Amino acid sequence: MSLQERTRTEAAVEAKERWVARGVATGPVAVARAEGAWIEDVDGRRFLDFAGGIGCQNTGHNLPAVVEALREQLDRYLHQCFVVGMYEPYVEVCQRLAELSPCRGAEQKSFLANSGAEALENAVKISRAATGRPAVVVFQNAFHGRTLLAMTMTSKLVYKKGFGPFAPEVYRTPAPYPYRGVSSADAISSLERLFKSDVDPESVACVVLEPVQGEGGFIPMPPDFPPRLRELCDRHGILYVDDEVQAGMCRTGPLWAIEHYGVEPDLITTGKSLGGGLPLAGVTGRAEVMDAAHPGGLGGTFGGNPLSCVAALAVFDAVTEPAFQAHATALGERIRGRLEEIAARVPAVGEVRGLGPMLALELVEDRDTKAPAAALASATTAAALERGLLLLACGIYSNVVRILVPLVVSDDDVDHGLEILEASLVDASARAG
Ligand SMILES: Cc1ncc(COP(=O)(O)O)c(C=O)c1O
Repeated sequence: MSLQERTRTEAAVEAKERWVARGVATGPVAVARAEGAWIEDVDGRRFLDFAGGIGCQNTGHNLPAVVEALREQLDRYLHQCFVVGMYEPYVEVCQRLAELSPCRGAEQKSFLANSGAEALENAVKISRAATGRPAVVVFQNAFHGRTLLAMTMTSKLVYKKGFGPFAPEVYRTPAPYPYRGVSSADAISSLERLFKSDVDPESVACVVLEPVQGEGGFIPMPPDFPPRLRELCDRHGILYVDDEVQAGMCRTGPLWAIEHYGVEPDLITTGKSLGGGLPLAGVTGRAEVMDAAHPGGLGGTFGGNPLSCVAALAVFDAVTEPAFQAHATALGERIRGRLEEIAARVPAVGEVRGLGPMLALELVEDRDTKAPAAALASATTAAALERGLLLLACGIYSNVVRILVPLVVSDDDVDHGLEILEASLVDASARAG
């Protein structure tokens, strides 16, 4: 093919392969612009976005209030480093996080960072400082990030293979996964056994749990699990860290997923949609815990940069509107209804699951054996892309198709996307079988 015949997408893919490290795996879409729930690529093709930059666009691409806030901030200043020159938007984001915090305690404080991984790392640092204990307990199927400690806490080999040795004092135990036979009771008794066999609970600083495991397969914790974990933490003086980097900011309907469970964690980690498309993450919790880290112990050059903070303030205005949360909940019911219909028609769907609009299909080769159908999941996302739908797989077996559509999507668009999803799944199943 001559140079002229190449599409801009093909040229972009070729350039990416030449210049970008291959460890950064990416799909073949070269984005030119985005708005709401839609993306347009460099060749003018439009895609309905069921991925949202992996859950970063709950308020939609280019929310006008975010863009407006950024424009105003561009004329003021771009970077200060909060350690050097403090600025009001950072403090205001911390105040909003405190006012909206689901955590235990009347007085809340926050620390801002660049990424979810950094928030998780700092939640562990703060927990260690507050308790004087070294150990961290995490769960199977967890995803907490890609930096050394966060990667150690993560439970999927593709993110870890070849990258050890890992951080010490991280202990892992099964999380509930009812579809694959792990109940709340099983998970609690495994944790109790861990406290007999591997780590003294009196040396555990914190347990870290996603209320809905994201990368691990959109597995919502059963209703009784977070309360039982909270009780276990209280018995041993362990801090409960609620990782809402993916499940927070209305992804499950209410602002925080933990609200579904009636549990008050000690610390919450936030990120992704918090910045409305800009890099921002946070750790929030009661003042005495957050203040356990000494002055100078927390920080970073760019964490909580001014642009991200003004964007987050606009995002908070949007997501705290009761109508926004009501729409997210209604959207969840709509999507779940459609997914149940798809499951009734397509035998490869082993389970429809999730919480609110954070929903997914677990695909299997056989409903009885539940053998994971990873190839089918990737064939489905590829077929969806050809039809104009951006869709992501996830799961410990890479056999789960997840929906992270911007919560501002219209009913017509979401129905259209779900029709594409079904057609792609049917096509991919026919090809596989
Ligand atoms: C639950 C959870 N925690 C932490 C992270 C890490 O966030 P980041 O990729 O911003 O480092 C993610 C990212 O997917 C996540 O889903």
